Amino acid sequence: EKGGYDTFMLKEIFEQPSTLRDCLRGRIVDNCRRVTLSGVDLNQERFKSAERITLVACGTSWHAALIGKRLIQDFCKMPVEVEYASEFRYGNPVLNEKDIVISISQSGETADTLAAIELAKAKGAFVYGICNVVGASIPRTTDSGTYIHVGPEIGVASTKAFTGQVTVLTLLALSVGHLRGAIDDATLHEVLSALDKIPETIEEALKVDTEVKKLSRIFSYAHNFLYLGRGYNYPTALEGALKLKEISYIHAEGYPAAEMKHGPIALIDHDMPSVIIAPSDSLYDKIISNVQQVKSRGGAVVAIVSKGNKAMNDIADFCIEIPEVPECLTPLVASIPLQLLAYYIAVNKGKDVDQPRNLAKSVTVE
Ligand code: M6R
Repeated sequence: EKGGYDTFMLKEIFEQPSTLRDCLRGRIVDNCRRVTLSGVDLNQERFKSAERITLVACGTSWHAALIGKRLIQDFCKMPVEVEYASEFRYGNPVLNEKDIVISISQSGETADTLAAIELAKAKGAFVYGICNVVGASIPRTTDSGTYIHVGPEIGVASTKAFTGQVTVLTLLALSVGHLRGAIDDATLHEVLSALDKIPETIEEALKVDTEVKKLSRIFSYAHNFLYLGRGYNYPTALEGALKLKEISYIHAEGYPAAEMKHGPIALIDHDMPSVIIAPSDSLYDKIISNVQQVKSRGGAVVAIVSKGNKAMNDIADFCIEIPEVPECLTPLVASIPLQLLAYYIAVNKGKDVDQPRNLAKSVTVE
């Protein structure tokens, strides 16, 4: 049942090309010019008249929500907020009929997310669910939604569900953006063409496996890690850090790279490596200076860069190349080496990656 892999987590990491193919199936139409998501298509008026979207989730799903915020802002040009479900439910949220609340949950059983949905419904918001487990409590409670269809996720550390959530959020942002006339046809076509090929692109990204495995040996005994990213990849940094914490029990902090100098920079020394996500995107020049700031304080840097970027070799200690994709899709691709790095570090330390201590696959208590 592990399909020849040592663990469910490794199987689920390597399954991503096929799970994303399942996730996308039938949803990109008209030669990459249109999206069809029944949850949006059947509720066009709600999506057209909405004045704001609030995303609620916990853990990894909350990281996907942060990426969703950028996608919706960029493609729908409307205000978006992201809240931890546990904070939202006790935070007296101000909502009305013009609000859409999107809840994201792999299991569909997370207690705080379910309570947030019930509250949002009671306040008149339209609630949309993005879920994996078919027929779970969340999809039964929401007004409408989309399944990510990535198959059962057994490993406690979420991997394929995260990339499925980000993929559905991309489809949703493009679909709603088109409906609201907020996105031009050329951009829609460009992003959809790249998204349609994402299963193959992830296949390509997974080829860093051997290299990451080797690299993991150098860093397995660090006690602290910093993960840095900007823009679309600030949430990717948070997710990379969470993966490492959950399965290797190494303390790791994810941070927006530019915020580092407002505090965490004090922690950097020879014993604290940083993983810096630096694809060739609109913030590349900015992140280069963040890499230099870490290096000048003696910290080791593992940089995740776009294929063909040889210049970073002169600055960072180690570079891992990922295939080039439009900026909005970089989190999907950059997550792959981060999942593998966390995985191999945990394995080197002899940890049980599928069942890390103190964690449950679905958190049904608040
Ligand atoms: O099932 P959900 O997506 O609602 O779960 C939310 C979190 O409990 C979950 O993402 C958790 O953070 C994972 N262990 C992350 O790997």
